[in-house]
Amino acid sequence: MDTAIAIIVALAMAMCAFAQNISYGADNFYRSNNVTIQPISFPTHYQTTVGGNLFYPKTLNGSTSWPAVIVGHPMGAVKEQSANLYATKLAEQGFVTVSIDVPFWGASEGEPRNAVLPDLYAEAFSAAVDYLGTQSILQVDRERIGGLGICGSGSFVISAAKLDPRLKAIATSSMYDMGTLARQGLRNSQNIDQLKEAIAEAAQERWNELDGGEVQYTSGTLDHLTANATSVEREFYDYYRTRRGEFTPVGSAPNLTTHPTLSTFTKFVNFYPFNDIETISPRPMLFISGDQAHSREFSEDAYSRASEPKELLWVPGAGHVDLYDRTELIPFKRLTEFFEAGLA
Ligand SMILES: *[C@@H]1O[C@H](CO)[C@@H](O)[C@H](O)[C@H]1NC(C)=O
Ligand SMILES: *[C@@H]1O[C@H](CO)[C@@H](O)[C@H](O)[C@H]1NC(C)=O
Ligand SMILES: *[C@@H]1O[C@H](CO)[C@@H](O)[C@H](O)[C@H]1NC(C)=O
Ligand SMILES: *[C@@H]1O[C@H](CO)[C@@H](O)[C@H](O)[C@H]1NC(C)=O
Ligand SMILES: *[C@@H]1O[C@H](CO)[C@@H](O)[C@H](O)[C@H]1NC(C)=O
Repeated sequence: MDTAIAIIVALAMAMCAFAQNISYGADNFYRSNNVTIQPISFPTHYQTTVGGNLFYPKTLNGSTSWPAVIVGHPMGAVKEQSANLYATKLAEQGFVTVSIDVPFWGASEGEPRNAVLPDLYAEAFSAAVDYLGTQSILQVDRERIGGLGICGSGSFVISAAKLDPRLKAIATSSMYDMGTLARQGLRNSQNIDQLKEAIAEAAQERWNELDGGEVQYTSGTLDHLTANATSVEREFYDYYRTRRGEFTPVGSAPNLTTHPTLSTFTKFVNFYPFNDIETISPRPMLFISGDQAHSREFSEDAYSRASEPKELLWVPGAGHVDLYDRTELIPFKRLTEFFEAGLA
């Protein structure tokens, strides 16, 4: 390629990377002057290490006991994507918050990287409760710890809360039930034969890996936008593959971000986060979804199965990914009120 053409190609690629839609205050990497942020790590009950960030108001002092909220990121993402933003906004409102990387992702331990194991994802929320309740310097009140899950973490925090009543108030935003998604696809788009095919493919991939083949990845966000990309693919691409939300954690590579390994993805088939969801009552639950979200079925399903007190909050005009980072659409005020009341 001659130099002039190479420069034009490089410019075109750079322009693509800038072509993100930052309307409605998209501000994934927001930092607050009023909040201290510091990296942390802590053990799960199974002695694996979870990486996270701790956020607290600069006014934090040892003379008060503080409420706390643990925030989980979208499936396939890391805490730098959406979770840090929610954690920062809640810390501004007077909560100690922790954003976590689920095991096998980002700064959390676990091999193979990008593996799926929903029980351990849920355990990471309980491990964060352990952490918050044992840091004497923070003065977090053990009776005032809540959980918030975005996208896939919405289903992980519900799974955690069923077994961990130390989580006193549970909110989800743009929830994906990763179990139903793996079994049935979005809006029942996958039939039983297709499911069996996916299971067989994942099992076959175990042989491939044992035989020394390169690890294969599945689903996730398109690496390049194609003309035939669906609206859902475009929605994710605009966030994960542009400066709006792109983030590659240390030790990973851009073409691996958002992609779970093929051989482990089917672990979600055995994941039923909404079974027994009613046992979370009387702890309050808040389900937030855009009324335009392609994922709205999951919040509706969880809401209908949960017992009181519960609320389903529709954000008018918002799509699924809008609630990852569009600060003018995410109902931070309502979330603050929910955790203030639920962790009173
Ligand atoms: C940008 O995103 C907003 C919120 O989803 C949407 O209403 C708008 O149509 C988008 N604009 C473009 C040019 O895609
Ligand atoms: C500690 O912080 C709380 C909450 O902001 C405040 O009410 C209290 O006055 C503070 N105490 C001191 C000693 O600064
Ligand atoms: C930051 O703190 C200042 C001083 O208390 C306050 O006036 C301001 O509203 C706070 N900003 C945010 C975004 O919370
Ligand atoms: C979309 O186009 C790409 C090539 O641009 C092709 O590889 C892919 O199979 C197409 N997908 C569908 C669903 O047609
Ligand atoms: C990711 O990119 C690297 C370097 O270009 C390449 O070697 C690897 O095969 C790619 N992996 C996948 C899963 O696309």
